[in-house]
Amino acid sequence: MKTYKVLVLHGPNLNLLGVREPEIYGAMTLSELNARLEEIASALGAVLRFFQSNCEGELVDALHEARTWADGVIFNPAAYTHTSVALRDAVSAVGLPVVEVHLSNIHAREEFRRRSLIAPVCIGNVSGFGWQSYALALRGLLGYLADRDAAA
Ligand code: DQA
Repeated sequence: MKTYKVLVLHGPNLNLLGVREPEIYGAMTLSELNARLEEIASALGAVLRFFQSNCEGELVDALHEARTWADGVIFNPAAYTHTSVALRDAVSAVGLPVVEVHLSNIHAREEFRRRSLIAPVCIGNVSGFGWQSYALALRGLLGYLADRDAAA
């Protein structure tokens, strides 16, 4: 079985997880979340790299760089979900399978959060399961990659 390499990309304000509106985003910190994902990834034989930035351009750069090493991306674009043409174009440009992730259910919140500019260029999205959204996205992405490679 191939060892898939996955970029886990976190957008703005997610560095404050655990202290930021815990009633919406949960009590787990970003490093705890990453550690949980790491455990799941090693059980599934995948390798993860993590990156968080509050800057749109750095997220674009991370997506570009992922072209050179990653098989896929799990991406929580956070507030940029709803505004960023640059990130949408970067996802399209790199051509990697990307899964969009949200801790909260963006469809059950304010109207402006219901629209994602990123979703149409992703293979799928998971929203509303707290940190488990990332775990579900990882399983989905690895299953997608295995099916794709088996069909090739
Ligand atoms: C979020 C949802 C976004 O609307 C919000 O701006 C975030 C976090 C989530 O994970 O639920 O920062 O992406």
